[in-house]
Amino acid sequence: MKMIITGGAGFIGSNFVQHMVNKYPDYQVINLDLLTYAGNLENLKPVEEKPNYKFIKGDIADRGFIFNLFEKEKPDMVVNFAAESHVDRSIADPECFVRTNVMGTTTLLDACRSYGIKRYHQVSTDEVYGDLPLDRPDLFFTEETPLHTSSPYSSSKASADLFVLAYHRTYGLPVTVSRCSNNYGPYHFPEKLIPLIISRALADEELPVYGKGENVRDWLHVADHCQAIDLIIHNGREGEVYNIGGHNERTNLEVVKTILKALDKPESLIRFVTDRPGHDMRYAIDPTKIETELGWKPRYHFDTGIAQTIQWYLDHQDWWKNILSGEYSNYFDKMYASRL
Ligand code: NAD
Ligand code: TYD
Repeated sequence: MKMIITGGAGFIGSNFVQHMVNKYPDYQVINLDLLTYAGNLENLKPVEEKPNYKFIKGDIADRGFIFNLFEKEKPDMVVNFAAESHVDRSIADPECFVRTNVMGTTTLLDACRSYGIKRYHQVSTDEVYGDLPLDRPDLFFTEETPLHTSSPYSSSKASADLFVLAYHRTYGLPVTVSRCSNNYGPYHFPEKLIPLIISRALADEELPVYGKGENVRDWLHVADHCQAIDLIIHNGREGEVYNIGGHNERTNLEVVKTILKALDKPESLIRFVTDRPGHDMRYAIDPTKIETELGWKPRYHFDTGIAQTIQWYLDHQDWWKNILSGEYSNYFDKMYASRL
């Protein structure tokens, strides 16, 4: 089995590459990543010397490059993590979200059609469903929930999903799609809420909480996401969408306070700032389909998972301090200038 995993130098992709390389020593794993600001080869250190692992730098939206690569490697499977992934960046500059998330996906799909594939898997997000109201805790996203996006990011992901499913229906391409809730865990880039709060709290810096901090996210440990994708690519039904989430809903304020408590830092660091435009109120997944069809169950509860994650950030300060001292510091100053 030869797999191309795209975006394997990012947060979830690098966790998934490590999972696959270690669990399936007889699979050839090719990590294809453009190494944008979010891609970091440090994330692959634990597997970079393994004989079944190879890294290739390249752009999923570069048609000539992708077709040459498929011609040469003839992969059996493609798992597409590569994306622009940050909502705030998509609000500031939507265009590269269309290029990578939509056109990158269609380029990969066309290459799969031309060279043949046993499985194409699209890593999508629960954000394609839009949001749920805070006063209806009985409501959850199922695979039948209509797509109803809010941000340029979620619109680009929904668009990509529609192309993936259209290529199944029109051309019979063997595809699956997964839509997961918010992930947390090792190698999470510090522009996202949890690592941003951990790194800034450790430096006794102000912690920007958008609006009133009442928005709810359904947090899933990245290892549980990787295990779910492993099950879907091997046992999932072609043409199907699988939602992934573990019923760990928390308000942003609860998450921030949990981190402050674990680090023994004062709540006075919290600073309520201007809200994100179009900010989704609540995400919550109904994972019944993947649980009943594929026997998936998350191993982590948020309380233990977040404690382990905080410990990982304490043990790997060089990893995130390197990021904070580079190009990212300009982003933070620009993005938060009018907020903090
Ligand atoms: P990330 O931003 O950490 O990583 C994205 C990776 O894609 C980076 O390594 C980057 O270099 C690479 N990349 C970007 N553009 C590329 C291109 N044109 N060609 C090749 N590589 C390119 O993202 P993440 O948080 O790990 O998310 C991975 C995937 O999972 C995304 O598709 C995202 O939509 C989806 N997802 C994320 C979450 C979450 O909570 N982070 C939840 C559900 C779904
Ligand atoms: P984020 O990690 O960007 O993920 P997503 O937008 O995909 O859910 O944000 C998680 C939540 O935290 C979201 O409701 C926005 C909020 N948030 C803040 O309050 N402050 C911040 O500085 C960031 C980055 C996010």
